[in-house]
Formats: sequence, structure tokens, C-alpha cells
Amino acid sequence: MKLKYAFEIVGDVAIFETEEKRKDKKIAEEIVKAHKRVKTVLKKISERTGVYRIRKFKLVLGKETETIHKEHGCRYRLDVRKVYFSPREGTERERTAKQVKPGERVLVMFAGIGPYPVIIAKKQPEVERICAVEINPKAVEYMKENIRINKVSDKVVPVLGDVKEVCKKWEKEFDRVIMPLPKEGYRFLDTAVKCLKPKGILHFYFYDSEKNLFNKAVGLIEKAAKKAGRKAKILSKRKVLPYGPRVWKICIEAEIK
Ligand SMILES: C[S@@+](CC[C@H](N)C(=O)[O-])C[C@H]1O[C@@H](n2cnc3c(N)ncnc32)[C@H](O)[C@@H]1O
Repeated sequence: MKLKYAFEIVGDVAIFETEEKRKDKKIAEEIVKAHKRVKTVLKKISERTGVYRIRKFKLVLGKETETIHKEHGCRYRLDVRKVYFSPREGTERERTAKQVKPGERVLVMFAGIGPYPVIIAKKQPEVERICAVEINPKAVEYMKENIRINKVSDKVVPVLGDVKEVCKKWEKEFDRVIMPLPKEGYRFLDTAVKCLKPKGILHFYFYDSEKNLFNKAVGLIEKAAKKAGRKAKILSKRKVLPYGPRVWKICIEAEIK
């Protein structure tokens, strides 16, 4: 009988989820057989939790969980047991990077192991500077290595710390602020608005249900802009990826005047 499961591959690590009982080994063997580069197979055994947004896994096959993932010409070293990473978001990262213009100063909040800052520096080598803030020390360790292996050290500045604290010192400093924390990011909108230069661009990610999609997120951005005595002009509203039944990860891009 055909086994039912979903999986994704990060470097040479495959990660699956299933409702099948006592079939973990069989599923792992099937994945390895079909994907020769896979050396380790993990099973998801929890949702993403906590500030670091990481989940628990069961090691089903292999040993090593640290790997190098290749995406749009960039290489990222990471261990999914210790840091957040999703290969499904690669297209969105590339799309965002392509919007960055020469001379821009960019702030990437919630930067993880650095895929946004790295691909921005690669796709737009004339960017002035990218500041990348992340609270998980292990993710910052990987980000530093990823900056080095992708040869973008002259453009990307990794910063370990809480966005709320680290960004206090920045006022109207950035042409673009990227907020890839859909679950809680709205709590940092005031900070993001403060960091943006007049006419700076905000990329705000959010989870929203299909009913009235975008309304809540747009309202949150407008409220934060108004609170700072500024105005938000919505540039685009997009579905990024499905998140759950009738729930989407969305992105709103707005100019903050
Ligand atoms: C959804 S992940 C995105 C990571 C990365 N941008 C990517 O695309 O892979 C969100 C990240 O934000 C970090 N984070 C959560 N709260 C934070 C805070 N207050 N300040 C800085 N980083 C934070 C988490 O540790 C996590 O790595």
C-alpha cells in the first residue's frame, strides 16, 4: 500500500511528516531511495514553538543533522534542530532581493541564519549596507559563517540581539525594512516604522485567514504609521504560501511617508 507523507529537503537532510503509525523507517528508506543526495531523515514531532521558532524532530535515519543548503546561487550552513529555516520560502526571498536598488540601506529584522541578507547582497551588489538582527545565538553563528562563505562580508552586518533593543538607536536610517516573522512581527511595527526613512519601504509578513484576507495586516501597518505621525501607502498585497486550512502567509509592501 502507498505510504502517505509530505516531506521537504534541506541540504542532504530530508524532513517528513505523516499520520502513518509505525512506518517511520519505511518512509525514510523510500525517501533515501528516491533522492540519492539525502543522508539523514528526520520526522517532525512538534509544531514550531518559542521565540526561536524551532521544532522537535525524531532522527529516523542517518546521524549528521548539520548541512549545507543551496538556494538561488547561495549556500547556507545550518542545523534544523537548532535554528529556523524553511526551503519553501526561497522564492519569496529571491523576489524580495530583486526589489532592492543600488545605494539602499536595508534592515532585515528576525534574520535567522541570514538567507535574506545574503541573497540581497548577492542579487544587488551595489546595496550600501544590510543590517541583519537575530536573537538566537546559534542562528547568528551560522549567519556569520553564511556571510563569509557567500563572500558578502563587505555588505552584511550581523547583529545578535532583540529587535526591540537593538533597533532603538536607529531613527529614519533605512530605505527598506524586512520583517519575516509572520506570527509575532506585528508587535515590532512601531520599531520598523521608526527605522524607516521618509518614503522607505516596509515588507510586513503576517498569517491571515482567507476571510477578509489582508484587512487586518493593512490596518496594523496604517495604525503604526499614524502613531508615528506618518502615512502608509500600500504598494502590494500578496499571498506567499498556504499555512493551514484557509490560512495564508501573506506579505504587504508599503511605503511609509
Ligand atoms: C520565521 S524565522 C525567519 C528567519 C529568517 N529570516 C529566514 O527567512 O529563514 C524568525 C526568526 O526571528 C527570530 N526572532 C524572534 N524574535 C526576535 C526578536 N525579538 N529579535 C530578533 N530576532 C527574533 C527567531 O529566532 C527566528 O530565527
